[in-house]
Amino acid sequence: MDGRDLVRLAKAVSFVGSAHGLRSVRASWRHRRADSVGLPPRGVERARVPGSVVGVAPEPGGGLVRFTRSRLRIIVTVSGALFYGWDGAEPEPSYALAGRGPEADPRAVLEPDKDGGWRVVSERVTVVVSRHGALEVRTPGGVLLRRDLPPRWWEPEGGGEARWAQRTEVSADARFFGLGGRASGPRLRDATYRLWNTDPGGSFGRQDDPLSLTMPVQVVVADAGTHLVFHDNTWDGTVSLREGSEGAGSGHDCAGTSELRMEGGPLRCWVMVGTPARVLHVWSQLTGAPTVPPGWALGHQHARWGFGSEQEVRRVVAGYKERDLPLEAVHLDIDPFTAGQAFTVDRERFPSLPRLAEQLRGEGVRLVSIVGPAVKAQHGNALYDGGQAIDAFVRDAVGRPVRGVVWPGESMYPDFTAERVRKWWGGLYEERLEQGFSGFSHDMNEPVSFAAFGEPTLPRSSRHAVEGRGGDHREAHNVYALCMARAGYEGLRELQPRERPFLFSRSGWVGLQRYGGTWSGDVATGWAGLRSSLSLVMGLGLCGVPYSGPDVGGFDGKPSPELFLRWFQLGAHMPLFRTHSALRAGRREPWMFGEEVLAHARVALEERRRLFPYFMTLAHLARRTGAPYVRPVWWGAPEDRALRDCEDAFLLGDCLLVAPVLEPGVDRRTVQLPPGRWYDTVTGEAFEGPGQVTVDAPLSRIPVLARGGSVLPVRDPGGGVALEAWAPATGRTGGGYVARDVGDGWEEPEIERFRVRWSQGRVVVETDGEGGAVEPPYPVRVRGL
Ligand code: NOJ
Repeated sequence: MDGRDLVRLAKAVSFVGSAHGLRSVRASWRHRRADSVGLPPRGVERARVPGSVVGVAPEPGGGLVRFTRSRLRIIVTVSGALFYGWDGAEPEPSYALAGRGPEADPRAVLEPDKDGGWRVVSERVTVVVSRHGALEVRTPGGVLLRRDLPPRWWEPEGGGEARWAQRTEVSADARFFGLGGRASGPRLRDATYRLWNTDPGGSFGRQDDPLSLTMPVQVVVADAGTHLVFHDNTWDGTVSLREGSEGAGSGHDCAGTSELRMEGGPLRCWVMVGTPARVLHVWSQLTGAPTVPPGWALGHQHARWGFGSEQEVRRVVAGYKERDLPLEAVHLDIDPFTAGQAFTVDRERFPSLPRLAEQLRGEGVRLVSIVGPAVKAQHGNALYDGGQAIDAFVRDAVGRPVRGVVWPGESMYPDFTAERVRKWWGGLYEERLEQGFSGFSHDMNEPVSFAAFGEPTLPRSSRHAVEGRGGDHREAHNVYALCMARAGYEGLRELQPRERPFLFSRSGWVGLQRYGGTWSGDVATGWAGLRSSLSLVMGLGLCGVPYSGPDVGGFDGKPSPELFLRWFQLGAHMPLFRTHSALRAGRREPWMFGEEVLAHARVALEERRRLFPYFMTLAHLARRTGAPYVRPVWWGAPEDRALRDCEDAFLLGDCLLVAPVLEPGVDRRTVQLPPGRWYDTVTGEAFEGPGQVTVDAPLSRIPVLARGGSVLPVRDPGGGVALEAWAPATGRTGGGYVARDVGDGWEEPEIERFRVRWSQGRVVVETDGEGGAVEPPYPVRVRGL
């Protein structure tokens, strides 16, 4: 038992009065026994390195380099992505890739390099392999982006999965981002980060790691360029990052390093090189386009663990209506009495859900249901019986069903890595749709089994189908929630083919964006939690999952009115804008925090509604280009070191820079500006970037700046679209996009482009028409003059 185990045991003991406490002690023992039978000790291990080059075989996109004790396949694809895999690792099979791996670029050539090494030269990237298996990724101009030292493997003598390690050097000025959702980012400082999706239990703080959604994806930003690196391996592992330091003229530069250690699985890697926009574009082509949420899911959503009754839901919705506050969805989280059973709602407390749903829908409010994977193991429970009938549940190494403990009590877990199980599970959403739900949040799907000691998940020896290849939980754990999301998404597409599904999931892996979004999970109530929630959204966006947001107010405590308001103002500028609280953490309706907070929250809500056409446009742009809605401020200027180090602001699309207040008692704050002219959207004051400026941040609003030359689609008071054009600096031009609102079906909207320029002392906004430039079909308001 380690320190964490002791903390957990203490929690379990204090929980013993409750049935879950005792059950979780029993489950932990069972899991430990299952692993001692199912996972024999590794025994003696033998270390291996590749050795020296003995030959090569050119192939489309690159070729094969043979070493005395390994081989390395290099493929540059037509989209410019680089793949390399050791020991015969190929791009497929993969849970990350969308469809088949992309085609090799026939123009990339493998040719001899100096000192017995080889290189692959292509249009977008150059790869240099040394005689002993070090691999350098360089820009086409030859500038070094990363240098992998030869990998090392440790192989059990009696056979079994090899562990491996790969150490990489990057330039001294490089900064690391990504690794999925991390509480301590967005800039990932020197630390060891774990790659194992984990419910941290209770709520999490800035230093808690790992959380529910980890990914072996790093975005590395340096003077030399930006690259994304993805190790396509679902096993448990760690990434140790150390930023470099520059000699500053009086000593050597010290390279930044990243060391990846994996417990098994293939050593294969993808690298994308270029501007941040290009890198994310190639990344989304590789791993799949993000879904576009239905329009209502871009509005304000309110959740509570423990509404308790239909009357209470009605009362809350009426509270919004009476105060004329926008609300688009209510999330029915589990209730203490329903105990979170997957796909059930307490019928006594919610006896007429379809009627409730219909009434609310009439008022423009949708219902969202929480769904967990754990199925209460009890005969007579239709879900359990249905799963048993098709042998859906995960078994241990000797074929016994694996039982864990979650809210429903003793539970079993569907094996979502089997297609037939996904199909069965996908069909179950029919009942939820009949009850009137419009969207779904997947919860506790790391997956969680409450543990008194050991890991709060399934035993590592549990068997999984892994798409027919067979494997155990060590390999399947990190993709469990991804496969559950796929089951839900595909089921919903069949059940309601005309509507885009709305699904978001606490856990997941690379590719989650193909099925939906995510949220920050149980972030602790406090100013540090507010910062973490921003870190999570930015990190996930850079890893390809653009739709996410914080639980405004944090999970577990009662936020002060000021903290709630600042979180609310941040949330109003994030793709998922949801207020939420845990059982006993108090209510989160904006009027619960006094008149002043209510007045300011109203401003944020109204602004969110006004920005709806912009959010919809960002959702469609994310789908087409992979660019997240929420972007780091260095997005367009990664060479600017001050921007790389700025963690307290973000770009919302191309047009807006949002500078949330992340500390108490603040009414002015500094903002690090990217190049160009920026306007305070409230005062109209203009600032010139790059550089740092100080702006007002009164309690009534967080600073939002508009880029000079941007054209922002907003909702006009009549409900239509209007264009808000921000004057470019004299002599400069600009532009913006509008995705036409085509409802919540599958129609692809046209994305219209607008340009803005100065003409004879006036700012003119135009678009392409049949005979050349024409006036936009929307009302235009020019600002910043
Ligand atoms: C954990 C989720 O993260 C949280 O949002 C939810 O309220 C609780 N589970 C209870 O369902």
